[in-house]
Order: sequence, then structure tokens, then C-alpha cells
Amino acid sequence: MMIERILVIGAGTMGRQIAMSCALAGYATILQDVSAQVLREARAELEGWAASRVAKGKMAREDAELALGRLSQSTDLERSAGQADLVIEAAVEQREIKERIFAQLGCVAPTHAILATNSSTLPSSAIAAASGRPALVCNMHFFNPALVMKCVEIVRNGQTSDATVQAVMGVAKRLGKEPVLVNKEIPGFIANRIMGAINREALELAEAGVASIDDIDTTARTALGHPMGPFELMDLVGLDVIDFIAQMTYAQSGEEQDRPHQLITEKVRSGKLGRKSGEGFYPYTH
Ligand code: CAA
Repeated sequence: MMIERILVIGAGTMGRQIAMSCALAGYATILQDVSAQVLREARAELEGWAASRVAKGKMAREDAELALGRLSQSTDLERSAGQADLVIEAAVEQREIKERIFAQLGCVAPTHAILATNSSTLPSSAIAAASGRPALVCNMHFFNPALVMKCVEIVRNGQTSDATVQAVMGVAKRLGKEPVLVNKEIPGFIANRIMGAINREALELAEAGVASIDDIDTTARTALGHPMGPFELMDLVGLDVIDFIAQMTYAQSGEEQDRPHQLITEKVRSGKLGRKSGEGFYPYTH
């Protein structure tokens, strides 16, 4: 299956960087969002990112310009999907919205097009039927920041074909990623289950007054070699996202250990969402 044109739906934190990764790998890429303002912000961020890599000597100016030239944007889903060989949906984490998008894609995307969702909380089996082509549907879960993180979890549902898995694996490798195959649609897949266990332990240590948040983070970095401590990472991901993942995991598993932690829920209630809001476990000056 030849993939040359990619449509990324949703220009938020994940979608914009996934789209840029595709453009850098040589794919003709369209970034689609319902908001023209969000698309403008995404373009400005990606141009800034490319300029800083050129300034650091990590990317040739010509390559940056070529990649940005391959990346177009649109608010029109129907028109953007018309030529796509692969669609990566990174819209908001709401089942109804994703289901509607997949139903629409089932009508307007070419019949050979693979439809992947970047969702971390919704298995593709929940929306595959809406597309009318379940064999061509899977999760393709990237990590934040998507331009940097190497992992992509390819999660197959019961009906995903081997050809679909091979094709998206091939795309992920061409993006310079190290894709992993998840054979069962379990809540949290692989990475978020491991992250959830680490976060749970870190939150319990902090709550019990065993050590400060700062010292717990320092320990994870200096004793375990993690690039960030759990609290720094939760702030990066967004405490609302962490809370939402916990809610969805708990709803699916019903296990006490997956219940959203009150420290996170309280922060979200008071608007402390992490880096993006200027404060989470730590204060940030942008
Ligand atoms: N966007 C794009 N590039 C970024 C970036 C961002 N937000 N943040 C950092 N970078 C780039 C920098 O430009 C820099 O690039 P160069 O090396 O080419 O100059 C590189 O990353 C390293 O950045 P820094 O030197 O500023 O800082 P660092 O070495 O501490 O790295 C980090 C920053 C990459 C974020 C690193 O700390 C890290 O890997 N942290 C862990 C991130 C992680 O675990 N992500 C997964 C979250 S879970 C998730 O996403 C799943 C989900 O469903 C919620």
C-alpha cells in the first residue's frame, strides 16, 4: 500500500507536531482544524521551531523550507480528505466527535485510505464501525512532544488487517520513529500504563510527606535516569489530560488503582493545568 499523502485532523499540541513530522519525512501533508485561529498558531509555532533548528545548525534551511512547503492547512475536512492515503485523527478526546469524524471520513476519504486515531483513551474499535472500513482502522498513538519522542504505539483492533498494520508501521519508521505493536486494546496501552503506575507512586509519596515534589522528581532523574521527574512530566502533558486519562482508564477497568488521584483533580478544578496554564505542580513563566 503506497502512502504519499497524509491528512492530520486537529492542530492542537499533538496534531501540529505530528503533521510537521510527516512533512519532514517527505509526505504531502494537510493539517486540518475547525479553527482558522488554531491553524495560524500552529503554523507560527512550527515555523519558529524550524527556524530555531536551523539557527542551532541542526537542520539545513532548505530542508526546513521544503518541509514547511509540503505542509498545507485547511478548515475544510471534506476537501482535505479527498486525496489522503492515510488520515491521522488528533482531534479532541471526545468519543462523539471522533465517531462523527470517522463516519464523515468513511464517506469522503478514498476507499483505500487508512484511518488512524492518535487517541490514548479511545480504542479504535469504538469508532471503526462508523467509518464503514474497520479493516483500515487502528490507533497510531504519538507522544508529547511528537517531534521529539520516538515511540508510536500502533494498536490494532479485532478487525485491523495485517496490511494496515504494516502500512502504518512503515509510515512511523519513515518518520524516524520506533513504532511498537500493541495487540490488545487494553486501557492505557503500554506507555500510559507504565506512566500511570509511576505517577501513582509519586503522588502517594508526596501526599504522605515522604519527600518534596522537587526531591521526588530529582530522584527519578538522578537515580533512574528519567529525562523528567513524574511531576515535571505531568505538568508537560497537562494535568487535565492526566486526569482525563485516569477517568477513562477507571471507567474501563473499574480498578481502584486507576481512580483519578485527588491531588490532580483538585489542581484541575483550580485551573492549574501545568505548563500550558502557567502553573501545575510548578510555576512557569512563558
Ligand atoms: N516541541 C518540540 N521540540 C521540543 C519540545 C517541544 N515542546 N521540547 C523540547 N524540544 C526539543 C528541543 O528543541 C531540543 O531539540 P534539539 O536537541 O534538536 O536542540 C530537544 O527537544 C531537547 O530539549 P531541551 O534541551 O530543551 O530539554 P531536554 O533535553 O530536557 O528535553 C524533553 C526535553 C524532550 C521534553 C525531555 O525532557 C523528555 O524526553 N521528557 C519526557 C517526555 C515524555 O515522557 N513524553 C511522553 C509524555 S506521555 C504522552 O505524551 C502520552 C499521552 O497519551 C499523554
